[in-house]
Amino acid sequence: MDSQSIATAAYIVAALLFIMSLAGLSKHETSRQGVLFGIAGMTIALLATFAVVVDVSESATPVVLLIVAVSIGAVIGLWRARVVEMTGMPELIALLHSFVGLAAVLVGWNGYFEVEDGEGHYSGALLDIHNAEVFIGIFIGAVTFTGSIVAFLKLSARIKSNPLMLPGKNYINLGALAAFVALTIWFVIDPSLGLLIAVTVVALALGWHLVASIGGGDMPVVVSMLNSYSGWAAAASGFLLDNNALIVTGALVGSSGAYLSYIMCQAMNRSFISVIAGGFGIEASAADDTDYGDHREINAADTAELLKAASSVIITPGYGMAVAQAQYPVADLVRKLREHDIDVRFGIHPVAGRLPGHMNVLLAEAKVPYDIALEMDEINDDFDGTSVVLVIGANDTVNPAATEDPSSPIAGMPVLRVWEADSVVVFKRSMAAGYAGVQNPLFFRDNAQMLFGDAKERVEDILREL
Ligand code: TAP
Repeated sequence: MDSQSIATAAYIVAALLFIMSLAGLSKHETSRQGVLFGIAGMTIALLATFAVVVDVSESATPVVLLIVAVSIGAVIGLWRARVVEMTGMPELIALLHSFVGLAAVLVGWNGYFEVEDGEGHYSGALLDIHNAEVFIGIFIGAVTFTGSIVAFLKLSARIKSNPLMLPGKNYINLGALAAFVALTIWFVIDPSLGLLIAVTVVALALGWHLVASIGGGDMPVVVSMLNSYSGWAAAASGFLLDNNALIVTGALVGSSGAYLSYIMCQAMNRSFISVIAGGFGIEASAADDTDYGDHREINAADTAELLKAASSVIITPGYGMAVAQAQYPVADLVRKLREHDIDVRFGIHPVAGRLPGHMNVLLAEAKVPYDIALEMDEINDDFDGTSVVLVIGANDTVNPAATEDPSSPIAGMPVLRVWEADSVVVFKRSMAAGYAGVQNPLFFRDNAQMLFGDAKERVEDILREL
């Protein structure tokens, strides 16, 4: 058997392992196993690729280049994975997606020069298909590349998370798509370097514009959408390189990312089509200069008194709890309150923090029992009748504007209805807006009080008072 057939067999095994990996990752109990299957699949795919390169190379150069490239990638990947903070995970993922996009663009360009240099041996209809693949691969790759970079910049707060509202933004997107279709037909009829440069520029600009037009509140969906795009970019490269493992893996990532985006849109009451089309149909909302009145402040000692008098408490954590690493004192606070026979539960919003399941991971780290951490749908009707709600570093996920103000950028997003409780204490450092950049009228309600400062320090202060 030649190396190509062995590699094909190995790629099928790798693809099966990737499918088993996805299946494993879908449940808590089997997620470790899922990761191991994924590692095994990737190792097999890399070894098979290595074997083919060794077999077909006439000199040592390609083998050396392959080893150098894989080693550099592996070292950077290991280093980033080890040092990344939990809160920095989404931005790292966005950056990794951009690499997949860039790789797809480079593979596409290589596919063009291969034919130019007469290495591809394509003719007739096969050449037309090849040219279409080159164009589609470059287009998806370039959209993924710049889209992911904008997502990275927004998630790491290097640029503002507000949506960019260019006049006629929907027409810009539609125009770019129409230009892509026209250029593809032209390129298949008459392939030229000029057209290749044109499609690359159009796609780079479209990717940038698509993600820049989406507001901060919709970023979770954008990340999973770019995950999906990066999968399709890899699949397009697989067609060009005639590599089945890449096609199957790309399609798996593409379809699972698309499905995740769809269920996230449903959870957040967002239109899937609108989000993947760069906020299509969402109009700019007027700047919120409403005067909500004055807010009231509370200190740690008075919060402790409030808690002592409470019969039931719900804690709604958010991104600020992750930043402050307040989950450990929060877990101590929960233990202390429960010792006083106070009923304490957590209300977890599906997009609290910066990645799916972020709050659940933090609470599990601090050994908070699973059964008191409830999902939003399970707890939302219980705020009414609850004595005290502690909003610890959450903002957008407890913003009443989402349900009450149809012109708000987060209108329609389901939120935790904390304001229905008797008393609400909000832990944060200032009156600054949340991730979506929207003012929060909760802070000005009669039953709400602000406890300013770092969430961890304030919870520790309360613990001392108790
Ligand atoms: P956010 O709206 O992000 O607000 C977090 C709040 O925490 C801020 O207002 C900040 O106010 C406060 N904070 C920061 N550091 C703090 C500290 N050390 N101590 C105390 N408070 C601190 O929080 P959220 O309610 O969790 O909402 C999440 C947002 O992120 C949503 O808009 C969501 O769509 C978006 N998002 C989510 C994901 C996923 S998948 N979960 C991914 C990307 C984006 P101060 O600055 O005044 O302290």
